[in-house]
Amino acid sequence: MKLIQSIKELRAELDICRRDGKTIGLVPTMGALHAGHASLVKRAVAENDVVVVSDFVNPTQFNDKNDLLKYPRTLEADCALLESCGAAFVFAPSVEEMYPEPDNRQFSYAPLDTVMEGKYRPGHFNGVCQVVSKLFLMVEPDRAYFGEKDFQQLAIIREMVRRYPFDLQIVGCPIVRESDGLALSSRNARLSDEQRGQALRISQTLFASVEYAKTHTLADTVAFVEASIASAEGLRLEYFEVVDGNTLQTVKNWEDSSYIVGCITVFCGEVRLIDNIKYKE
Ligand code: PAF
Repeated sequence: MKLIQSIKELRAELDICRRDGKTIGLVPTMGALHAGHASLVKRAVAENDVVVVSDFVNPTQFNDKNDLLKYPRTLEADCALLESCGAAFVFAPSVEEMYPEPDNRQFSYAPLDTVMEGKYRPGHFNGVCQVVSKLFLMVEPDRAYFGEKDFQQLAIIREMVRRYPFDLQIVGCPIVRESDGLALSSRNARLSDEQRGQALRISQTLFASVEYAKTHTLADTVAFVEASIASAEGLRLEYFEVVDGNTLQTVKNWEDSSYIVGCITVFCGEVRLIDNIKYKE
């Protein structure tokens, strides 16, 4: 496995791969890798000849400076994990390498990017699209892999690929959870032991809501989730939205769509955690 920091070197290495007729898989990450990322990389390794993993904390997608400063950075441990998963290249550029000048491009995919995270983190998806489009242009992958934990991000990236258009396949991969249900996230590293116990209530509530939904209306199910989080110590609900899985627009009745997902964001202390659950698929 090779660690690459310059775009020029990345392009040169990948040109050789392409000349040899090899397919290229890309797994974009912000580092602080865990088993969820490992599952994306392993899938990419199984489906492509060569896998590039980008490891870059992208400043343009953080609307909260403090969040950016506190984002864990663990390149050495990341490289060890990626090597064990079979990645060929880790691309870990500096901010100057990725953004030699400010990126003024505006990506707007309303209404996909104006709801939920788009509403609470203005500019976030613009930054995600800036960096992901740069990576697509640099790597020119055949396939790119994203986790379904960032459900809205995945929908927006699919839309960006459709509209740009980029010639590649987006592969969405299921959420990876701890054995007790907590969705894996780089942010979990910032939770104290006590907070980790409190955060468990998020996935427990979502799982319980799937059972509850079988015999209750959608509005009652939303109320059930809101009440469960409100009564939990140490948690503060930012939003819980039940949406159509394709349009991300709020759904009012279970009969209104054949693909329904509940998306939740909760603060555990200062740590902002997201999760989601499928009610209909
Ligand atoms: O999901 C993430 O980790 C990031 O948003 C991504 C896609 C790597 C872009 O920085």
